[in-house]
Amino acid sequence: MPMLLRAVPLVLALGCWATACDAGGPSPEPFRNVNPRPLPTDPPLTGVKTLSAGPAEAGLSGVTEPVLATVSCDFATSGSFGGHPIAEALSAMASGKVLNIIPSRKSGRTVKITLMIEPDWRVFYKPWHHVHLFTRPQGEVGAYRLNRLLGMNHVPPAVMRTFNGSVIHSAFKRHALPERLEQLEREVLRESTDEMTGAMLLWVDDAVNYDPPPSLLDKMSRPRARLSPKEQVLVWDLSWMFVLDHLTNNYDRFTGGNILRKKDGRLVFIDNGAAFGPDREWKSAQRKRRLRRLTRHSPAFTRALLRVEPRVIAACVGDVLSQRDIDEVLSRRDELVSHFSELEKSCPMDCRFARELEAP
Ligand SMILES: Nc1ncnc2c1ncn2[C@@H]1O[C@H](COP(=O)(O)OP(=O)(O)O)[C@@H](O)[C@H]1O
Ligand SMILES: [Mg+2]
Repeated sequence: MPMLLRAVPLVLALGCWATACDAGGPSPEPFRNVNPRPLPTDPPLTGVKTLSAGPAEAGLSGVTEPVLATVSCDFATSGSFGGHPIAEALSAMASGKVLNIIPSRKSGRTVKITLMIEPDWRVFYKPWHHVHLFTRPQGEVGAYRLNRLLGMNHVPPAVMRTFNGSVIHSAFKRHALPERLEQLEREVLRESTDEMTGAMLLWVDDAVNYDPPPSLLDKMSRPRARLSPKEQVLVWDLSWMFVLDHLTNNYDRFTGGNILRKKDGRLVFIDNGAAFGPDREWKSAQRKRRLRRLTRHSPAFTRALLRVEPRVIAACVGDVLSQRDIDEVLSRRDELVSHFSELEKSCPMDCRFARELEAP
């Protein structure tokens, strides 16, 4: 069922879109579609792609010609997130008519926009800022798809979308705080008529920002530490977060406000705009430190990581990541596989997760 169906009449009755959709904004009038031109959208995530298998497969089967293999990306578009069908959400975000534009007053270092998309999807739009490396929409979309590839569901569905900047600019002129308008002009739009590229993320209902307390992170580093049932859930989800951040090379998880906790206690990993991109020594040092939090193992982690293999990754994120990004994801995947395999060998019983959960 589309989101906000129940909330919309109440919001309209209160006459306060922005308060309902974001923290204390103005109440803009209903909005026309922002982009009168056809919208460039991602190449659709095909259910099935046919790729040439590599020499290894050819060699194994004794065939010298490339072998055609089928690689499915269904996991990225199927299922549901927060009770909403993912395929419908992705399609609405990629090309649905925008009904309302609300400059966001959420904290953070960047300009963000809440959009209402027909019929009643609530979406967070994060434009690329030419002055900040950590605002890459490809990072948001790549992290979403990799999390699905792992069989997880901790990242809001995301697509890239380009708008005519002038429409966003005029909404900001009418409704944004002056400093956000100024930031939009300085960091996003060099000319107000520029195109604006960004990531669309499905809004997560009923979630609050969550900062893992140092005591919990400390327990994560000690596999024999006793965990309460609530902590077991958190440690399970945080372990997937460290795995995802390792794979995507995201260095921006603990700057505040980048993890949400839902009412059911499960975590959502937002703000993946710093993911991928060129590696650096300091990023690699941070990765090593984070690996020390992964002190518990489960076959679920190893199985998931083994799914991240070259053909699947190329077929499923090849449109948003460069070949170098993909190669680096694969080598970090190897690091994780060896990490868990060594852990399993050195500490088979005590370091095994006492409780394993389904994907949220
Ligand atoms: N998909 C989402 N659903 C619900 N809240 C979100 C979502 N994305 C971001 N937020 C809220 O907006 C805040 C800022 O978003 P974030 O992506 O971290 O922006 P920035 O890149 O500026 O740090 C977050 O701390 C969170 O409270
Ligand atoms: Mg953030």
